[in-house]
Amino acid sequence: MINIGLLGLGVVGTGVVEILEERQREISLLVGEEINIKKVLVKNVNKKRDVSLKQNTIVSNFEEILNDDEITIVIEVTSDIDKSYEYIKAALNKGKSVVTANKALVSKYFEELSSLADEKGVSFLYEASVGGGIPIIKPLKEEIILNEITDVQGILNGTCNYILTRMFNEGLDYSEVLTNAQELGYAEMNPAADVEGDDTLRKLRILGSLSLQGKVGEEDIILEGINKITSFDVRQIKLMQSTVKLIGEVMELDDGYNALVLPTIVKNNSYFASVNMAYNAVIFKGDNIGELKFYGSGAGKLPTGDAVLRDVLDIALGYNRKANPLGDKTLKNNNSEFKSKF
Ligand code: HSE
Repeated sequence: MINIGLLGLGVVGTGVVEILEERQREISLLVGEEINIKKVLVKNVNKKRDVSLKQNTIVSNFEEILNDDEITIVIEVTSDIDKSYEYIKAALNKGKSVVTANKALVSKYFEELSSLADEKGVSFLYEASVGGGIPIIKPLKEEIILNEITDVQGILNGTCNYILTRMFNEGLDYSEVLTNAQELGYAEMNPAADVEGDDTLRKLRILGSLSLQGKVGEEDIILEGINKITSFDVRQIKLMQSTVKLIGEVMELDDGYNALVLPTIVKNNSYFASVNMAYNAVIFKGDNIGELKFYGSGAGKLPTGDAVLRDVLDIALGYNRKANPLGDKTLKNNNSEFKSKF
């Protein structure tokens, strides 16, 4: 039996527990043994939860997971950065593999934590941190590794895309629709991270770095969210047979790269205009493969829980790929003066 320590039991943590319960038979067939959630770290042990766990699984102290030698994989699905960083570092140092869905944490620390994992001979995987349920990180790190990626573009935030879709389709104001996105489990704990674009920026920082094989820093990305788009803008843009999408893009240039997250006007018949509600899409341009598109559910309990568990399965199958794929290339940021349209 493979034992897991789960950090966090919010939307994604609940999805992980539910899928594991539902798919144990398939897992046993594939891996040859069960995957068991042995301990779950939560902030409030007394909170009533709508999820079935074995007795005595809930703990309030990380040491109980860290010092449990039967736990070989830690899944981190909180929205905290600082504490989780300490926990993940401690787990990797103890020789446990770590899987996380925490975009903010991966964006801030992925080079350091990946190098630590490599040093300890364990895995640090974060498929769920970008694109919800869409397999993006693994293909990027492996399947298209023989390409020089010159451009990556994406709709990377389900909440913003959901809000924009309903603003354009139903003429609603963004704050009205945000509440629905929160109810559906798409939005961050603090939804400012969605609508102001930070969540997209963090995901782009991860994708951009992996694509260009060097560090694209958060601070190097021009950022504007969707929160300034008015109903007047919506009406005018609709008259142009167009819509708006929050698009993140990193493009390689002859002497560096550009990185931007911007609400972008796209024609109704364009590819990105067809990506609606909480769906995400990413387009890579590679020198061998040409244009490659990824599309799927970008947020929510089950898509994101599924992505977490795919990483767990890879570890369970002994598939220990190098965590840090970045070389020592230094990239030059070439973002020029930029003026917002909104
Ligand atoms: N708040 C995020 C989104 C969750 O809406 O895309 C998935 O990363």
